[in-house]
Amino acid sequence: MDLVKIFPFTMGITNHRGAGMKILFAASECDPYCKVGGLGDVIPALAVALRKIGHDVRIVLPKCASVNEATPFVAVGGPMIVNMGYGVEFAQLLSTEYRGVTVYLVEFNRYFGRGGIYGECGEGYCDNWERFAFFCRAVIDACQFLNWSPDVIHAHDWPTGIIPALLSVHSRPEAVRSSGSVFTIHNMAHHGYAPMELLDFVGLYDHYWHPFAMEACGAVNVMKGALQFAGKITTVSRTYAEEIKTSDYGHGLDDVLRYRASDMIGICNGVDTDIWNPLTDRFLPRNFSAKSMGGKMICKRRLQAHMELADGDGIPIFGVVARFFEQKGLDVLCDILPDVVKNMEVQFALLGSGDKHLEWRFMQLMHNFRGKVSCRIGLDNPLAHLIEAGADFFVMPSRYEPCGLNQMYSMLYGTLPIVRATGGLADTVENYNEKTGDGTGFVFRDLTYSALYNTIGWACATYYDRRGDVERMRLSAMGKDFSWAKAAGEYERVYGAVAPVRRCGAPQ
Ligand code: GLC
Repeated sequence: MDLVKIFPFTMGITNHRGAGMKILFAASECDPYCKVGGLGDVIPALAVALRKIGHDVRIVLPKCASVNEATPFVAVGGPMIVNMGYGVEFAQLLSTEYRGVTVYLVEFNRYFGRGGIYGECGEGYCDNWERFAFFCRAVIDACQFLNWSPDVIHAHDWPTGIIPALLSVHSRPEAVRSSGSVFTIHNMAHHGYAPMELLDFVGLYDHYWHPFAMEACGAVNVMKGALQFAGKITTVSRTYAEEIKTSDYGHGLDDVLRYRASDMIGICNGVDTDIWNPLTDRFLPRNFSAKSMGGKMICKRRLQAHMELADGDGIPIFGVVARFFEQKGLDVLCDILPDVVKNMEVQFALLGSGDKHLEWRFMQLMHNFRGKVSCRIGLDNPLAHLIEAGADFFVMPSRYEPCGLNQMYSMLYGTLPIVRATGGLADTVENYNEKTGDGTGFVFRDLTYSALYNTIGWACATYYDRRGDVERMRLSAMGKDFSWAKAAGEYERVYGAVAPVRRCGAPQ
């Protein structure tokens, strides 16, 4: 029984709930230093939101080659010892500040001084397990090196998934002796498989090689270990938290999640409105807001010109900004596009990269339907902002979507999302109701040719025939509160549950 809950004030004991906590984020992505997907947006935004409510949040990342040399990092002390299972290594800790949050980078070129974060040219590095196991060990040792005792280490996705296990060993360093752990699942599909040697490599005992610990199907499953050992587990939307407890979405770990269900919660991501705000967005040719929508048409014209789409204010543009992976369901969009553009008066503006076959299919479609379909391959942040602002609709037919950020960005830019009802898409988009004219987008259930074709057709018909409803939905979408403040409050409660209990007056 938790004494603090019974006698919170009379015992001279307090836990850190509500008071400023010391929180260390461990992550493999963080914009503007290293980013592949939504994780890179979430890490800095959540950290800043937690700092705003009074917590000492710091972030630790591997120093990948993508970290811009112009970033003013300074070395923190001399070489830092990283205690691997086989002996010590020496890394360099660097630091900088991002909007009031201290960011540390672990520099160790043998593992991180490469072109990509996880791999290059669509192929993951074959020593990823080793690289990220090293990083996890370095995160723990960085606390000792800095002589800084976080109340909570918050690890994100499998690359940081060994941290909860490392915090569970008796011989952990003094600095993290009382640190609690929180693990967030941003994507259940990637587990991080490693050979049994991983345990020796990071100095974990053999008994972690067990189906109730980290072993699965004859390998170490890093995600499984994180789910077993984290004090609390979160994921990035309520619906996804339910979905991954089922065999359809659990990627083989649904049983572990059902077992830990009372320690798991879904917290929907927010939007960093300092970056995604149509009124202040520096990438737009003209800013706009719900009160003054004129700029949106100028963005639309710029988008048509930039992507070589035919001119025409009255033709609806459907935007896509995505990583081209199976998760995103864009193969089905490829299947239906020829019929859509033949039968409907529409345009498509696509941006993304990933699966080479999908990239090729989209380029073919652009070639076959010039002026109607346009596709750019790659990461292009200014163009991503322009598509969100200039399009009328935004298509996200994801097979699964833990949270999804683009549907929220698009709503704030008055661009109505067309989404499959899964994960965070189901939680954030309200389906159009033709009777009342209410809603913030168009929602369908099954990822089939006809469901996606018909929903795009429905949006297209609404654009041409019920324009008033489109305008009304735009305004209600733009008025939604997706700010990070709400999520930060929910994370604060989760941290409070794992943060150490301290005696009043004890050194912090
Ligand atoms: C992953 C998920 C995405 C989520 C993001 C941030 O990229 O696929 O749905 O929004 O992480 O949590």
